[in-house]
Amino acid sequence: MNDDPENPWADSAETARTFDAASGDFDELTPTVWGPAGQALVFQLGVAPGEAVLDACCGTGSSALPAAAAVGPEGLVHGVDVADEMLEHGRLTAERRGLKNIEFVCADASQWEAPSDVPDAGYDVLSISYGVFFLPDMDRTFWRLVSLVRQGGRAGVTVWRRGAMEEFSSIVFDVASRYSPGLRERGVLRDRTPLHRIDTPDTLEAWLADAGTDSVEVRTLSNLLPATEKLCWSLVTGTGLRAVLTGLDSGQVASVRQQIAEEVTARGLRTIDATTLVATGTVRRPPVSG
Ligand SMILES: C[S@@+](CC[C@H](N)C(=O)[O-])C[C@H]1O[C@@H](n2cnc3c(N)ncnc32)[C@H](O)[C@@H]1O
Repeated sequence: MNDDPENPWADSAETARTFDAASGDFDELTPTVWGPAGQALVFQLGVAPGEAVLDACCGTGSSALPAAAAVGPEGLVHGVDVADEMLEHGRLTAERRGLKNIEFVCADASQWEAPSDVPDAGYDVLSISYGVFFLPDMDRTFWRLVSLVRQGGRAGVTVWRRGAMEEFSSIVFDVASRYSPGLRERGVLRDRTPLHRIDTPDTLEAWLADAGTDSVEVRTLSNLLPATEKLCWSLVTGTGLRAVLTGLDSGQVASVRQQIAEEVTARGLRTIDATTLVATGTVRRPPVSG
């Protein structure tokens, strides 16, 4: 059930259904969209050999897998996500890469407690790539996750920069609304999620500092993707935008696909802006409960 009026994604069972359905197409976007940001986040967090990492909302592992490579055999990574199909892709990739130090666990990150293989002081690192704005009661849940990190450890997130994905999402909503009236009102556009509060370097920096971190660094990862028909459709079927297709039959889905391509051309959209903010800080306060 969704108890968070600020966030249409706060019903984690519904989120899990959307991302389970999206999982195959989601991973196709890893090389161009999720992967560069996941790598950048792990780099900026300075993940080092032997460290213990919590990667919340890990999906198929775009930041969790590079973290596992960075911590090496003496370290550990817990990747936590509500969508088990997403995790299964991550497990298979980890196996292919021979990574034995990463565990993909199906759980709601807002309820996560560090298991006994984590040092008593807590995790060394918390990473959340494109996930924090899905969490129910975003601020409180993030603060709680930060509290699982030891003092002097690091916490970091990636989020879409203001403007990124917006024109394309707007096209998707306009087209899908022709088949699902009221979609905009129910929908997951940015101004209806907590993302709009943290999608500029300044607001994100202040928010991360408020969560109990120092030395906050926010960097901008530019990513302008050619708006091919294939990419546009993958961005619908392989992301949270997939929710707009719920309840449509296959004929309607085919029409939505065609009309999105037509709208993209008609509006002269040549690139999809996937520019991302990568924000990290050093945890300054001792763990708190709640
Ligand atoms: C856009 S994907 C990002 C996945 C991955 N971090 C990446 O960058 O490729 C967002 C992920 O957050 C997960 N998610 C949303 N709410 C969650 C929650 N409450 N607990 C755990 N995972 C959640 C979704 O299932 C989805 O896999």
